[in-house]
Amino acid sequence: RDKEPDAAQDTEKIQKKIVLGFSQVGAESNWRTANSESIKTAARDEGIELLFLSAQQKPENQIKDVRSLIAQQVDVIAFSPIVEYGWGTVLKEAKLAGIPVIIMDRGIDEQDKSLYVTHIGSDFAEQGRKAGRWLLEKVGDSNERVNVVEIQGTFGSTPTNGRREGFIEIIKQNPNIFVTNSKAGDFMRSKGKEVMEEFLNDKGSEIDVVYAHNDDMALGAIEAIEEYGLRPGKDIKIISIDAVKAAFDAMKAGKLNCTVECNPLQGPELMKAVKDLMAGKQLPKRIVINEGIFREETAEADFINRNY
Ligand code: AHR
Repeated sequence: RDKEPDAAQDTEKIQKKIVLGFSQVGAESNWRTANSESIKTAARDEGIELLFLSAQQKPENQIKDVRSLIAQQVDVIAFSPIVEYGWGTVLKEAKLAGIPVIIMDRGIDEQDKSLYVTHIGSDFAEQGRKAGRWLLEKVGDSNERVNVVEIQGTFGSTPTNGRREGFIEIIKQNPNIFVTNSKAGDFMRSKGKEVMEEFLNDKGSEIDVVYAHNDDMALGAIEAIEEYGLRPGKDIKIISIDAVKAAFDAMKAGKLNCTVECNPLQGPELMKAVKDLMAGKQLPKRIVINEGIFREETAEADFINRNY
């Protein structure tokens, strides 16, 4: 008879929904919209209660978000860090409160790996390498000088650092390729356009290639190039990252030459990790998403299978 209340409590425990608090970067790009949708849908499908916050691209907001999720005593905190640095203190607070943390998409630069359970997301340096390999393929062994301008993402974020380093690592194999200008466009179409306008006004006719750290900024650059009177994809080759639907439209129109995939549909992987964690399972420290590369030549056929 003494056992009865415990049994009732156990059933209650089993039936209690897992509460996941998530702090998103913001709504800066098509990729981010697809990523937020994927998280919300997967939580619904898995019966996980989701407290979804958006930091609007401001690191200080995101630290407040994590603190507020600690105060609300959620079961698990997950977030996509806007920038890599500045996480030690708040993650120690989560640890003290006994709330496990999952990093999703972008990473953090933190020595103490015990502050998070796992990091689910892309290999950003490999994305940069893929972009670099595409350029090497195009340029071949030509001895002609190739002037590349780079539109970077958010300063201090993992995708910006990885995509830059991976790209440089590969293109340095050809001494005729030069990155002549590089500036941050914050992963936003409007800023990508502004940065490209600056590059064009500086050295318009000398630019051979644009390397944009995401599709939205590449789409902004396309607008700037057209307004300047040149043909994007032809007079100036363009390579970007994400592979969102709008990039396929641009490739089909011959305005974008290549896009490296960054898969935003990470919601199911995140919910699986949350459930495994709550069931007491051990998670790998790093879960890498598989991704490809798409070229203008096959854009029409590839587009049919795209989900975002
Ligand atoms: O962190 C992933 C990057 O952030 C995506 O490439 C970009 O579109 C987004 O803003």
